[in-house]
Amino acid sequence: MCRVRCRVHIQVSRQGSLSSTSVTLQLLLRFVALACAALHTQACLHGAPVTRSAGPPSRRLAVRQQPPQMNAVIVKNVRVFEPLAGVLSLPRDVAFENGRFVSVTDCNSSAPTIIDGTGRTLLPGLIESHSHPETPEHLQAFAQNGVTTVMSLACPTYAACTALTNLGPGFPDVHYAGNGVDIPGNQHEQLPGSHPLNETITEPEQAAGWVQAQVDKGASFIKMTAERASVSPTLSDAALTAVVQAATSHRLLSNCHAADFNASRQALDAGVNIVHHSPTDVAYDDVLLAKFHTPPTFNPLALRSRVSVPTLTIMRVMAATMPNQSFVPAQDSVKALHAAGIPILVGTDANPVLGPTFGPSMHEELANLVEVGFTPAEALRSATLLPARHWMLRDRGVVALGMRADLFLVNGDPTKDISVTTNIEHVWIEGVQVL
Ligand SMILES: *[C@@H]1O[C@H](CO)[C@@H](O)[C@H](O)[C@H]1NC(C)=O
Ligand SMILES: *[C@@H]1O[C@H](CO)[C@@H](O)[C@H](O)[C@H]1NC(C)=O
Ligand SMILES: *[C@@H]1O[C@H](CO)[C@@H](O)[C@H](O)[C@H]1NC(C)=O
Ligand SMILES: *[C@@H]1O[C@H](CO)[C@@H](O)[C@H](O)[C@H]1NC(C)=O
Repeated sequence: MCRVRCRVHIQVSRQGSLSSTSVTLQLLLRFVALACAALHTQACLHGAPVTRSAGPPSRRLAVRQQPPQMNAVIVKNVRVFEPLAGVLSLPRDVAFENGRFVSVTDCNSSAPTIIDGTGRTLLPGLIESHSHPETPEHLQAFAQNGVTTVMSLACPTYAACTALTNLGPGFPDVHYAGNGVDIPGNQHEQLPGSHPLNETITEPEQAAGWVQAQVDKGASFIKMTAERASVSPTLSDAALTAVVQAATSHRLLSNCHAADFNASRQALDAGVNIVHHSPTDVAYDDVLLAKFHTPPTFNPLALRSRVSVPTLTIMRVMAATMPNQSFVPAQDSVKALHAAGIPILVGTDANPVLGPTFGPSMHEELANLVEVGFTPAEALRSATLLPARHWMLRDRGVVALGMRADLFLVNGDPTKDISVTTNIEHVWIEGVQVL
């Protein structure tokens, strides 16, 4: 089907170049022909009896020389969520093999149908941008809920974090911050089991050594905390800035806990890339929103804009349990960020102690974003394409040729109703079926 269509276009293009067809049309046709040729070489899954009467075989498939159909899966006649456009594709066949997508075209593959996607939607795996998993069971819970990449914003112990990255196929891909940097006496230092105790700094001069220690422990990014001084001792502006500078010198993203207005201002002034949580005291104002848009000159990693991980799921819990706090400013802040076009990533603060669960809370957070005015497609983009982009994970976040086969299949159309993301029928992580 696809092959025939492409050959027709190529023939038209050749004829055009010989006749009086306008240059513009020639170029257009040539473009179409090239695009078609590209589609053609993607072909359908190899192992399928696709005849190749024209054009060279796909270099990619020829070079791989893997046993045919090893781990091969085809989801047939399925609509695919496309996060950039925010729409579902027309029904198509999607094939993946050896952990990567190998065909996402509408070619009519005659390879065996593994999964019938009729009436289903296939989505890129969800990326959880703020959590604290501690055990393999926590990661399995993520996997069962379509979460295929997990950011750990502080380790219970370094050994535990390392262990979570070495569990083998079928577990979400975990990236971690190591420990979060605090000042002595900070409330985070007193959370039982939340992370290694008593690793603190007080002076800017200690920042470089502290960041180096996290790098040595395998950190993929750096975490720090800014707090309301009336609640907990907090790092000075100078110390926070020094941590950001040290992180930037390692080309690592800096992440800051900031659950109130003034801590958010402190985080932004320090030049962090990603501000975590949203304020339960006073909503972001125009001054703070402008800071989100203003790149810190010393932090080239934040040049385009700053990013927010509002974690509304846990802010709802905190607002309900802490005196004089409200969920309303947290929601209003997210509305303001959204209106200002500041990228927002889905994260929940899932942890073993209180509040958000590992996995189901991701779907709660999607609904929280829809509640404050996101379209379902925008909420899904904040859990797929945008986190892949802003965490600099270029091999995921979208169902496309060559990308990691991190995906899940739901029954229904989640762009119409976000709760459809919980109707999960199958999940694959790097091509390995986990549900
Ligand atoms: C696609 O393949 C199926 C068999 O797998 C066949 O019945 C159908 O006619 C084909 N459709 C097109 C458009 O070629
Ligand atoms: C952390 O410091 C406190 C007080 O300074 C001390 O009681 C506690 O034992 C320390 N914990 C660890 C794990 O070193
Ligand atoms: C932020 O801090 C300033 C001074 O440090 C204080 O005047 C202001 O009330 C604080 N704002 C909030 C919302 O707590
Ligand atoms: C809560 O707010 C009330 C009224 O503003 C104040 O009197 C009280 O001290 C506050 N409580 C706490 C724990 O901050």
